[in-house]
Amino acid sequence: MTTTPISPAGPLPPSLVATLPGAYYTDPEIFRREQAALFESMWMCVVRAADLDRPGAYRTVQVGRESVVVTRTRAGELRAFLNVCRHRGARLCVEESGQVRRNLQCPYHAWTYDLEGRLIAAPNLVRMPDVDRERYGLVKVALREWLGYAWVCLSDEPPSFEDTVVHAAVERLGDPAAIEHYGTERLALGKRVTYDVRANWKLIVENFMECYHCATIHPELTEVLPEFAEGYAAQYYVGHGAEFGTGVEGFTVDGSAGFGKLPEVSAEQDRRYYAITVKPTVFVNLVPDHVILHRMFPLAEDRTVVECDWLYAPEVVASGADVSKSVELFHRVNEQDFAACERTQPAMSSRAYRSGGVLVPSEHHIGGFHAWLLAALDANSRD
Ligand code: FES
Ligand SMILES: [Fe+2]
Repeated sequence: MTTTPISPAGPLPPSLVATLPGAYYTDPEIFRREQAALFESMWMCVVRAADLDRPGAYRTVQVGRESVVVTRTRAGELRAFLNVCRHRGARLCVEESGQVRRNLQCPYHAWTYDLEGRLIAAPNLVRMPDVDRERYGLVKVALREWLGYAWVCLSDEPPSFEDTVVHAAVERLGDPAAIEHYGTERLALGKRVTYDVRANWKLIVENFMECYHCATIHPELTEVLPEFAEGYAAQYYVGHGAEFGTGVEGFTVDGSAGFGKLPEVSAEQDRRYYAITVKPTVFVNLVPDHVILHRMFPLAEDRTVVECDWLYAPEVVASGADVSKSVELFHRVNEQDFAACERTQPAMSSRAYRSGGVLVPSEHHIGGFHAWLLAALDANSRD
């Protein structure tokens, strides 16, 4: 029997670079390796700090294969724990978010933990004086706050936060102080939209990293940022921000005026859009009057939940100003992007994509993401 080659044999022409093979987007075993090597080993942005506005407010999130509960202590600090009771393992908090008065109590046999995670009460605990309440406290998860968000790391030895998270912004913007000008941690939430995307998380990252698709699927965005219509990823040159088109007054769906620029945004940053990818699962978009932050929760090889927050100056939100025109612009971009990712996902298991596809020159930098991913998977498998 003769077989027909699936893809043309021989080396690729220099204009093209190979992508990952299709199995990287469909194989549950590769996804499991990513959970171990990335989502359970690196810093993951999970909860907006201001959402937990009082002691005892909590939010549960999926991080790799673990459920994590993030809460605020009576002293006002954020803490993260594995959402698992130390008695017989019941899930402690079953709601996605909530508020307790003082303690977290397991709904099974009522073991009770304070907001620092210590075991403080259990039925008949006084008759078990040998039980160490620290040892049977909740399992702590490392937590850092940056840009007004809680970032957690499940690893016992978390990588450097500065090197692996903060550095992404420095590398992209070329100036360590540039992101500080937006004062993201002081901004208020104007709008949150959660998208349940039926696609592998890497399709979403790769899409975010290129603008070859912008002219085809983002009519509103390319009106506001005409250089995006050219498809070349100028947005990824260090320090470069895409400039608003002539006559565009603000980063809104129809180019109408937005709000006043954030107070410390510099003259060079004004009328420009900057996009930052913080691997593996965060995108930060900076425009003069607001910040859009996406954080992804990869739930399966073909499913990713994306929470997107639109953040404005506190006085804009407090005044009840209508943010819908600026929200609508990136909401449409999100819907256009996620529809493209969902259109791509089923084809990842096609024999046509068995050895992957190709990247054109304006997408070649996505090869760096693939190299990063393969190195992380490789390093983890050798641990
Ligand atoms: S499993 Fe939580 S108290 Fe028993
Ligand atoms: Fe896009």
